[in-house]
Amino acid sequence: MHYSIISSSPAQTKKIAKLLAKELKGNGVICLTGDLGGGKTTFVQGLALGLGIKEKITSPSFVLIKRYKIPAISYFYHIDCYRLKNPQEILDLGFEEILSLKNTVVVIEWADRIKKILPKKRLNIKFEYLGKNKRKISFASQR
Ligand SMILES: Nc1ncnc2c1ncn2[C@@H]1O[C@H](COP(=O)(O)OP(=O)(O)OP(=O)(O)O)[C@@H](O)[C@H]1O
Ligand SMILES: [Mg+2]
Repeated sequence: MHYSIISSSPAQTKKIAKLLAKELKGNGVICLTGDLGGGKTTFVQGLALGLGIKEKITSPSFVLIKRYKIPAISYFYHIDCYRLKNPQEILDLGFEEILSLKNTVVVIEWADRIKKILPKKRLNIKFEYLGKNKRKISFASQR
């Protein structure tokens, strides 16, 4: 599956993510890549909203992994690999255990930094900066 869409505002990016959240049925691994400031974290905020999470989502760049409860279902893990020196750091934080959890949504910013340890079954989303408020968001599912 390949699909791309142009977003003209942060609000639109969140709306697209919210729609995706409805399709996730409470589980899945979503890998975000692309330009600095491309809108990855903004997208994650929309995903969280769509999953019914009320907490404010901020980038986990320093702590690497943040966990949120998805009401009545499961957990939402937000991982940011921007500051990673090597994939081992994320393995040390229990990455494989997180992936093995049932009913869990895992979203990973800068996923290309840990390409070697990503699961085969995942959704890849690439963010390209086209202009001040314009982003190209491309979806490609991997099996
Ligand atoms: N169409 C758009 N979609 C998403 N964000 C947009 C859009 N237009 C402008 N922005 C702005 O661009 C910035 C995107 O920042 P955001 O932190 O979401 O990107 P990021 O890809 O997570 O960055 P980083 O590479 O630092 O992790 C925000 O300030 C956001 O408001
Ligand atoms: Mg970010």
